Amino acid sequence: MESLHETEATLIGQAHISNLMNAYAGSMALKCAVELRIPDIIHSYGGGPVALAQIASRIPSPSLETAYLARIMRLLVRENIFSANRCQPDDGHESHETLYSLPPSSRWLLQGPGFELSLAPVVLMLNHPWMMSPWHCFGDCIKTGGIAFEMAHGRKIWDFALENPEFNRLFNDGMACVSRITIGGIIEVYKDGFESIGSLVDVGGGIGKNLVEIIKSFPHIQGINYDLPHVVATAPAHDGVTHVGGNMFETIPHADAVLMMEIMHHWGDEDCVKILKNCRKAIPKKNGKVIIANIVLKAEGDGMFDKTGLVMDLVMMALCSGGKERDEPEWKKILEEGGFPRYNIIKTPCLQSIIEAYPL
Ligand SMILES: C[S@@+](CC[C@H](N)C(=O)[O-])C[C@H]1O[C@@H](n2cnc3c(N)ncnc32)[C@H](O)[C@@H]1O
Repeated sequence: MESLHETEATLIGQAHISNLMNAYAGSMALKCAVELRIPDIIHSYGGGPVALAQIASRIPSPSLETAYLARIMRLLVRENIFSANRCQPDDGHESHETLYSLPPSSRWLLQGPGFELSLAPVVLMLNHPWMMSPWHCFGDCIKTGGIAFEMAHGRKIWDFALENPEFNRLFNDGMACVSRITIGGIIEVYKDGFESIGSLVDVGGGIGKNLVEIIKSFPHIQGINYDLPHVVATAPAHDGVTHVGGNMFETIPHADAVLMMEIMHHWGDEDCVKILKNCRKAIPKKNGKVIIANIVLKAEGDGMFDKTGLVMDLVMMALCSGGKERDEPEWKKILEEGGFPRYNIIKTPCLQSIIEAYPL
């Protein structure tokens, strides 16, 4: 006969698996709230408390299902995305009506002017069916190799984006939000690191937004934004930034330092080593450095973002060929092979760390 202890452990297991297998419900409820702009609606009422009918009145629809909305809100209150309290009948509200508020921690879900540091576009991007369907291919990927995104959509993510303007917009909007948050965190903690350099090449810098932010804070830096020719062709001109088109696997423009933000995790080790060897050629041997902004995995860590790091590793597996997040020994290996034997890891107030690496 099972002991009381075993029975409890079995029940805990059942509850744990039930929660995990249904974890998508939280993501989907969150996506629904962002789509309907519920955080913005509550914010427009001063952050609450606000009644369901007031929220409903701001959602454009000829036939809104308030009962559905209430159920979405109930789960999101449980997930601490919104807070709720029951008002008393004499407050001018209907009897024991639930009033909702937006806690400060959910201000990340606000969108629009003044809320550039928003996670809302990332919620919409990561939870879109286009991004979710590759996850269903992991079993086949494990058995046969291959890339989940290609199995799901029949082409690489970049080709899919080229052919599908709606996906391109969704993906770019999400990525732009991630970059804004990351670059803010980096500038905050890496002041001395930027003070000491005169020129900086941002490899895979897209249309140069990160460099623009860096130069705003460190106007003495001469910035070179380096990306594929068709990408820099669309980059807006900015004082202090020169746009250069090219291929990082062939050559990288010369500068005191190289910045690579969210680049290396898209590539396998061999490709990363090739890129690092080109970085080494691009910087002075004596004082040159590479500044990498990427996740440093701590699989067992109990830090705020440590579990997210493992999830992002699977996002890379879902989307890219060879893409992965790396722990410190994995970083050390590719850095050494790429000609950077000395490095420091600097924590930032965001998911990514700075890996500052030197050729000597
Ligand atoms: C995920 S984005 C990161 C953009 C930017 N660093 C950021 O953090 O927002 C990766 C970038 O790498 C660029 N890229 C891909 N292959 C490249 C190559 N061979 N040479 C130069 N850039 C490349 C892409 O065009 C894209 O802009």
